[in-house]
Amino acid sequence: MARILLIVGGGIAAFKAAELIRLARRHGHAVTPVLTGGGSHFVTPMTLAALAESPVYTSLWDLKDETEMGHIQLSRAADLVLVCPATADLLAKMAAGIADDLATTLLLATDKPVFAAPAMNVRMWLHEATQANVATLRQRGVTVIDPTEGAMACGEYGPGRLPEPAEIFAQVFRHPGPDPGSRFLPEEPKEEAGSRAEPGMKIQDADLTGRHILVTAGPTHEPIDPVRVIANRSSGRQGFAIAAAAAALGARVTLVAGPVALPTPPGVARIDVETADQMLAAVDSALPADAAILVAAVADWKVSPSPTKLKKSAGPPQLRFAPNPDILATLGTHPDRPRLLVGFAAETDDLLANAASKRSAKKADWIVANDVSGDVMGGPSNHLHLVTAEGVEDLGAGSKEQLARQLVARIAQELS
Ligand code: CTP
Repeated sequence: MARILLIVGGGIAAFKAAELIRLARRHGHAVTPVLTGGGSHFVTPMTLAALAESPVYTSLWDLKDETEMGHIQLSRAADLVLVCPATADLLAKMAAGIADDLATTLLLATDKPVFAAPAMNVRMWLHEATQANVATLRQRGVTVIDPTEGAMACGEYGPGRLPEPAEIFAQVFRHPGPDPGSRFLPEEPKEEAGSRAEPGMKIQDADLTGRHILVTAGPTHEPIDPVRVIANRSSGRQGFAIAAAAAALGARVTLVAGPVALPTPPGVARIDVETADQMLAAVDSALPADAAILVAAVADWKVSPSPTKLKKSAGPPQLRFAPNPDILATLGTHPDRPRLLVGFAAETDDLLANAASKRSAKKADWIVANDVSGDVMGGPSNHLHLVTAEGVEDLGAGSKEQLARQLVARIAQELS
């Protein structure tokens, strides 16, 4: 259990601080929120207090025991300080050592590990002044969590968005599990990817040179007629990240991809397919492989497509569904079965029980259980569990890229 002093700066992303508190509380951590003047325009002290079940501090002069240096005590009573969102102004004040309100005074007074998750307009983030401040802070040991790229509330596009709370959380904690005894460990970004692998197998030790790794990713599209398809929400991001991570460890990687708008990761041989039947044929042609990781959200059903466009005037079509081949189950009993066969189970309910029954039904070695009850499909982060013959391992929460590196390090260990 860690005691987190959470400084909430003024920005549209301040609402995500509320989600972060919820997440931290769920994992057994204590959060003391400090709201800046700017922050209070975006989120109320009441919201933060209710979620944190703690008083919220907003002003230096609030601290009843100021005569006893209350702000020093506030920072001493924490195991770490997290600034989220960190505005350009807060970063500048931190870099310059300005202490003109409670938040900046605490930041100057603390001797605890400090994490900052910046969020701001793309131009403000890319401005030389901000970049210089970030460099100064990093040099002084502050962990600055890079903002992500995307469409911003201000209508512009680029880096400056606050990462998802799960991603921030994963970067701050190595062990986000609910274990009340789990210690706070400041993240070491260079080692983070291998940090949850078994002892002795850090990502920098993992090697897949000479191995052939087969990955499926994305959705399949099952045509109804020449213009219409049955599709699903899979973005392909998790599978592409796994292919990229395997290639980065020296593997020869074949990526069989359904229809997605993602660039091919460096060093990966990609086969584009549309339907489940095509995906099975591509997988079959790519064998043998040392490991196959089937991440694709394969459509379970197909229809016999009409060769011509169905006309609305003919009324609603009567679609007759037929089952698609199950690629994972096919590989489970294939004469060229990969040595390590890994499936994914996307579930909204009974995650681990369903994953375990898929593992035995499809004769896979591992099932990576993926809770898709939130906005995981298409989103940037995930929380994965590994279901093996021995039991369940919590791979933790994090970005899809980070989890991919952990999973691939675990695969390298298994194959070695
Ligand atoms: N899978 C597959 N071929 C299919 C369906 C699924 O290879 N026709 C693979 C997926 O790539 C994944 C695993 O099987 O690795 C589990 O997929 P999931 O969609 O969770 O399971 P289903 O078997 O389709 O079961 P359900 O949709 O009923 O949960």
